[in-house]
Amino acid sequence: MKAVAKDIYYVGVNDRQKALFENLWPLPGGVSYNSYLIVDDKTVLVDTVDICYSDLFFKRVAKLLNGRKLDYLVVDHMEPDHAGSIRLLRQIYPDVKIIGNKQTFGMLAGYHGITDGLHEVKEGDTLDLGHHKLSFYMAPMVHWPEVMVTYEETEKVLFSADAFGTFGTLDGGVLDTDMDTDRFWSEMTRYYANIVGKYGGPVQRALKKLSGLDIQTICSTHGPVWTRQSGDVIALYDRLSRYEGLDGVTIVYGSMYGHTEQMAEDIATALSDGGVRHIAMHNVSKSHGSYILRDVFNYRGLIVGCPTYSGQLYPEVEMVLSEIKLREVKDRLFSYFGSFTWAGAAVKHLAAYAEAMKWEVVGTPVDQKQGISTEEQCIALGQAMAERLRGTNK
Ligand code: FEO
Repeated sequence: MKAVAKDIYYVGVNDRQKALFENLWPLPGGVSYNSYLIVDDKTVLVDTVDICYSDLFFKRVAKLLNGRKLDYLVVDHMEPDHAGSIRLLRQIYPDVKIIGNKQTFGMLAGYHGITDGLHEVKEGDTLDLGHHKLSFYMAPMVHWPEVMVTYEETEKVLFSADAFGTFGTLDGGVLDTDMDTDRFWSEMTRYYANIVGKYGGPVQRALKKLSGLDIQTICSTHGPVWTRQSGDVIALYDRLSRYEGLDGVTIVYGSMYGHTEQMAEDIATALSDGGVRHIAMHNVSKSHGSYILRDVFNYRGLIVGCPTYSGQLYPEVEMVLSEIKLREVKDRLFSYFGSFTWAGAAVKHLAAYAEAMKWEVVGTPVDQKQGISTEEQCIALGQAMAERLRGTNK
């Protein structure tokens, strides 16, 4: 078992079996469910794991406790990927006191029927464990309303619930100092965009609240324990939760017979010729929406192309637009184009979408009839976006 700080041990598990997180988001590199055990005068478990892995999890906890009783369970988040093993834990350790806030306990009753042996905490409350001392801070809507984070003062460790989490299993190492973390950054952005992306405001409020703490180590519920790179992780979450995109463009298009796709190609070429170095292209019929959302959160420019389909948007494009809208993505530079055979409608729908999102529209939208080339207009659209990103046509 890995120690992440003095007396604090990692007891989480890896899930390499589940295909889709929340039955929605692909997990090509799996995911970890992190839990931590503090062994002091008092023993404290911080969160549990998905019930599918409870057997392995309980063995790890028991081995570290080495015959001692478990005094407390801190529940920072009630979503079942972390709270799924609480009922079984209570059966194994019937005297364990469960620490949470008022909202935690409503969910604890609803999911597990547990209503006794509770220790309610409020903002800033503390708990002495002997050598270590915990304090509790509410972080509502940093995924769910009951979320709180726990700070361990002696070792300066933040148990951050889903905040600073990422997809990807822990393949041997647990601390960022024990591994090459390159593979996590893109997955952290995808995790943020898909799971937490709607809650930029609450994440900003939580970051502000935590900025007064001296944090040496971040123990999230998913992914590595961050020490050396904790500043980078905080900076990424800060940028994403402010909806601040990097200088780059996501091109998202649907295409049935290749005409809209060719328009996207012409636009991409113009962007590249205009000096844009980060261009992420997605054919909506091939790219999973979670990867499109990742790039939409990552880049400032967004260009959407859509054929008219039965007088409406192409369904797969409509789905992606709805996922972006659900997350209330702000401040994108937006361009759009479409195609039709007999009566164009997609471009009008995209215009209405841009207005609803309050995004700045860049360039002149292009609407192509049948196979009649719009190459020049598409190049002009790409050039306009490249210039806008450079700040030369504001
Ligand atoms: Fe990892 Fe919101 O649960």
